[in-house]
Amino acid sequence: MTKSKVIKTIVKKDLDSFANNLIKDETHEVIGVKAKGEKFVFAPLENADELRLDYDVTILPPKKYFLPQYEKMMGFNLDKPFDVKESDVEKPRIIIGVHPYDIIALQQTDKLYLDSQKDDFYEKRRDNTIIIGVDIQNVSDRSFAASMKTNVTDSGFDLMLTNLGKDYAITVGSEKGKKLLEKYAKTKNAAKSDIKKIQDVREDIASQYKKKVTIDKEKWSSVLVANYNHGIWDARSDRCMGCGSCTMVCPTCFCYDVEDEVSLNLKDGTRTRTWDSCLLRDFTKIGSGEVFRDDIKERYRHRFYRKGNYLPERYGFVACVGCGRCGVACLPDIADPCDVLNDLSHFEKSDDTDRFFIKQETKAIEEGTIHVPKAATIRRMEKLTENETLFEIELDDSKPLGHKPGQFVEISIFGIGEAPISVSSAPSESSSFEIVVRKVGNVTSKLFTMEPGDKLGIRGPFGNGFDVKTLEKKHLLFVTGGIGMVPTRSLINHVLDKKNRGKFEDVTILYGCKGPCEILFMDEIKKWEKIDNVNCILTVDTCKEEENWGGDVGLITTLFTKIDLDKFDSKNTIAIVVGPPIMYKFVIKSLETMGISEENILVSLERRMKCGVGKCGHCQINGVYVCKEGPVFNYGQIKNLPEAFE
Ligand SMILES: Cc1cc2nc3c(=O)[nH]c(=O)nc-3n(C[C@H](O)[C@H](O)[C@H](O)COP(=O)(O)OP(=O)(O)OC[C@H]3O[C@@H](n4cnc5c(N)ncnc54)[C@H](O)[C@@H]3O)c2cc1C
Ligand code: SF4
Ligand code: SF4
Ligand code: FES
Repeated sequence: MTKSKVIKTIVKKDLDSFANNLIKDETHEVIGVKAKGEKFVFAPLENADELRLDYDVTILPPKKYFLPQYEKMMGFNLDKPFDVKESDVEKPRIIIGVHPYDIIALQQTDKLYLDSQKDDFYEKRRDNTIIIGVDIQNVSDRSFAASMKTNVTDSGFDLMLTNLGKDYAITVGSEKGKKLLEKYAKTKNAAKSDIKKIQDVREDIASQYKKKVTIDKEKWSSVLVANYNHGIWDARSDRCMGCGSCTMVCPTCFCYDVEDEVSLNLKDGTRTRTWDSCLLRDFTKIGSGEVFRDDIKERYRHRFYRKGNYLPERYGFVACVGCGRCGVACLPDIADPCDVLNDLSHFEKSDDTDRFFIKQETKAIEEGTIHVPKAATIRRMEKLTENETLFEIELDDSKPLGHKPGQFVEISIFGIGEAPISVSSAPSESSSFEIVVRKVGNVTSKLFTMEPGDKLGIRGPFGNGFDVKTLEKKHLLFVTGGIGMVPTRSLINHVLDKKNRGKFEDVTILYGCKGPCEILFMDEIKKWEKIDNVNCILTVDTCKEEENWGGDVGLITTLFTKIDLDKFDSKNTIAIVVGPPIMYKFVIKSLETMGISEENILVSLERRMKCGVGKCGHCQINGVYVCKEGPVFNYGQIKNLPEAFE
C-alpha cells in the first residue's frame, strides 16, 4: 500500500524542530492536538512541546476547521442591502496530528460539499489547509475504527506520520506535503526495514481495538432497511434527551442552520451558518407549525439511517468512521452505532437497500456561489387575501429567472433571513416573476412591510419542477388545497397559455380552501373556466351565512363525486396534487379509487428548507432531499418512503 509513495524518516527531535519551524512561519496558522485536562483537542499550537501525537481521540474532530461551528458567510449593510461581502476564509492552515478516521471523514464531507453545487467556503478551506496525519498510537476505548477499516488511510493527507520508536516515518501524500518537508524539515529516505515497520505498527494498533462492529460496513444498509420498524428504536430512544450532542461531536455530521444577525449599530450584520442537529425537534418544523419528525424515536432512528443507509446509497460510503466520540458524548450511552448495529446483527437483512432512496437530481447550479443571493427589486404588490400577498419581482440583472413550473426560490432579506417560496407565474422570457406569500414568520412578515422599489435577494430557481413534456397529450386533473394554488397556478397558466393549449387534453381543476375569503386568484379562475375543455370546481371547508358563496361546501375530497366517471379516461389522466400535508393521503386514496395509477399522480411536498441545494439536511424525507429531488414527486416513487405521508 505505502510502497508507491515517497517515504522519509525523521528523528524525533527533528520532528519537533519541523513543527517549530512551521509555527514560526506566520504565513499560516498551525493547529495541532494538545492535552486539555485528561482529554485532547485540536487547537492552535504555540510550541512543538504542546503537540500530543500519542492521543487516543480528540473531543471534537478537525471538522471545525472546515465547517466552523459559527461561520460568517457574508456581511451586509442594511442601508445598502446588496453591498454584500462574502466572507474571506482565514489564512492558510496546517493541521498536525489528524488520525486516519478523521481524514476519511473529511473525504466523505468532500463528496457532499464539493461533488456538485460546490460549497465555496468549504472548498476554499480545503484548498487552504495542509493535513499532516498521524497513525494511531493509542486506541480510544470507544473507538471501533479497525472494524470500519478506517484505522489506516492511504490518501487524504499531505503527510502522514508513523511512530517507529526512535524515529517517525513520514509518508508523502501530495506535492504540497513534499514541499513542506523540503522547506522546513531534516529528513532521510526511509529504508526497506522502516517501511516494514510501518506495516507492523499499523497491524499492532489494529489488534488493540476492544470494540468491534460485527456487521461489515457494506452490510449496514441491508440490516437497517430490514429493521426500520424494529422495537430497538423505541427501546433505545426512550432514554434519548434529544440534546444533539451525538451529532455535534461527529466528524461525519454536517447539517447546518443559517441565521442573520444585526449588529448593535443596527446598520450592518452577518449571515452566519451554524451546526445543526437532526436530533433537535425544530429541525423539521415548518411555517404551519408541523414537525415532520416530532417523535424522538423518529429523530433518533433518522441519524442511524442517514449514516448507514441514506448516504451509503447516495455516495457509496457509510457515514460513520468508528471514532467512538458519540458514545463518549451521549449521557444515556445510546448513540454508539457499533452497539446498535451489533444488536441488530441477529435480525433480518434485506437486499432492497435503496428502498428509502430515489435519485432524481435537478440540474445543479454550477456557476457562481450557492450562498450569495442575486439582487432583485419588488415591482408590484397586490393583496390577495388577509394573509396572502402577490409580489412581482424583477432581477436586477434583467435576466429571466429561467424557472419551470413547480420550482421555488429562496427569498432573502438581509437582517431577517431566507424562506423558500414557489414561483407562481408561468415560465416566461420576462425578467420579472411572481410569488405569493402567506404571512407566517420572520421573512414572510417582513415582506409584508416592504414596498415596490424595495430590494430583496433571490437564490434559485431550485428543485426539479414539473416535467411539462410528460403531461402533453394527457387529461390533467389538478387537485389543490389552500396555498398549494401558488405553484399550481404556474403550471395551469403554462398549460392554458394559447401557445401551449393544443398540447394538452382537457383540464379539470379542483380547488379547496378553508373559507371563501382564502380563495386565491378568483379572477383568473373565472377566466380559466371560459377556456374550452376547462372545468374548475371550488369548495370551502366552511362558510359563514353572511359570506356570499355560491360554490360547494365540504372537504376537497367531496369534489371527486362531481366528476362524471363514465366519461373519465383514468388511464390517460395525470393528477397533480398540491396542498397542505394533511390533504395528500385522502386525495390520493380518492384518485386511486378513480383508477388513476400511482405513476400518474404527481405531488409537490413541503419540508423545512435552509440551503435549497442538498447540503443543510433539513428537507430530507428518509434518503431523499426534497430541495434537489423534489419538491415534485411521482407518487409511485415515494409512496414507500415511510416519512413521506405519515
Ligand atoms: C418548496 C417550498 C415552497 C413554498 N412555497 C411557498 C409559497 O409559495 N408561499 C408561501 O407563503 N410559503 C411557501 N412555502 C412555505 C414557506 O417557506 C414557509 O412558510 C417559510 O419558511 C416561512 O418563513 P418565515 O421566515 O416567514 O417563517 P419562520 O420565521 O421561519 O417561521 C415560521 C414558523 O416556523 C417555525 N420555525 C421556524 N424556524 C424555527 C426554529 N428555528 N425553531 C423553531 N421553530 C421555527 C415557527 O413555528 C415559526 O412560527 C414553501 C415552502 C417550501 C419548502
Ligand atoms: S457516528 Fe459516532 S462513531 Fe460514527 S463517526 Fe460519528 S461520532 Fe464517530
Ligand atoms: S442519542 Fe444521546 S447524544 Fe444523541 S440526542 Fe439522544 S441523548 Fe443526546
Ligand atoms: S438539504 Fe438543505 S434544503 Fe434540502
